Amino acid sequence: VNPSTHKKLLDLNRRFYSQYAAEFSGTRQQSWQGWRRILDRFEGRPGISILDLGCGNGRFAAASDRQLTAAVDYVGVDASAELIEEASWRLEDLDSVTFDVAVADVLSPRAPVWSGRQFDLVVLFGLLHHVPGAKRRAQLLSRAAKRVAPGGLMAVSFWQLGESERLMSRTIDPKEIGLTKKSLEEGDHLLKWGEREAVRYCHHSTPEEAADLVDAVGLPGIETYRADGKDGQMNLYWLLQAPD
Ligand SMILES: C[S@@+](CC[C@H](N)C(=O)[O-])C[C@H]1O[C@@H](n2cnc3c(N)ncnc32)[C@H](O)[C@@H]1O
Repeated sequence: VNPSTHKKLLDLNRRFYSQYAAEFSGTRQQSWQGWRRILDRFEGRPGISILDLGCGNGRFAAASDRQLTAAVDYVGVDASAELIEEASWRLEDLDSVTFDVAVADVLSPRAPVWSGRQFDLVVLFGLLHHVPGAKRRAQLLSRAAKRVAPGGLMAVSFWQLGESERLMSRTIDPKEIGLTKKSLEEGDHLLKWGEREAVRYCHHSTPEEAADLVDAVGLPGIETYRADGKDGQMNLYWLLQAPD
């Protein structure tokens, strides 16, 4: 993906998450089933620090609070100011969660999120499919891996959108937004969302592509599985662990 296409795709998604923040957030009130298995690994600990990249409305902090008895120290980062605002009022209500949420583009190497502390758990849920270009997805994962504390975990979900006939029937021709098919990569889609048919850029990482990406991160993969959606197949998860 060349720089001008990259910018167009990012702008498209930024506009989407800004314009439809409230409606989108309405569809993201529940936890994903796949999260339970990750949080199970932290059962019985007195505390957990979490970095949530592309945190949306912060629902993963709420899920952690519900499942764990641990005190949760949560940092969430998202490009959408509207969703960060919602996250901050939602998390105010959670007694055992201390939190810091910020608006930032996680693709910017200069974003404050890339400097400073490390975390017991770093998560990227529903984020990678919005990152145009294989190289940038790999860079994002490598940067995220550096924020994992020794012995800590990184959890990534890959939306398997390309396997859904229903979703694939809702793609548009790139020409409709001034792009050509050739300017996109294999697995890139422009997908209509909701009744108003707002369009988002989404990339389908096949299981093979996801495994290659994870392999290149430099942390060993310790578990992979499918979960979520009606058939429990919507997301492909990978868990990676930093050495002690
Ligand atoms: C499908 S939502 C998932 C939100 C959240 N992780 C969840 O599971 O509810 C994708 C989120 O990624 C955010 N996002 C997309 N690209 C981003 C970027 N480059 N930097 C920061 N956030 C981004 C969007 O604003 C949106 O909130």
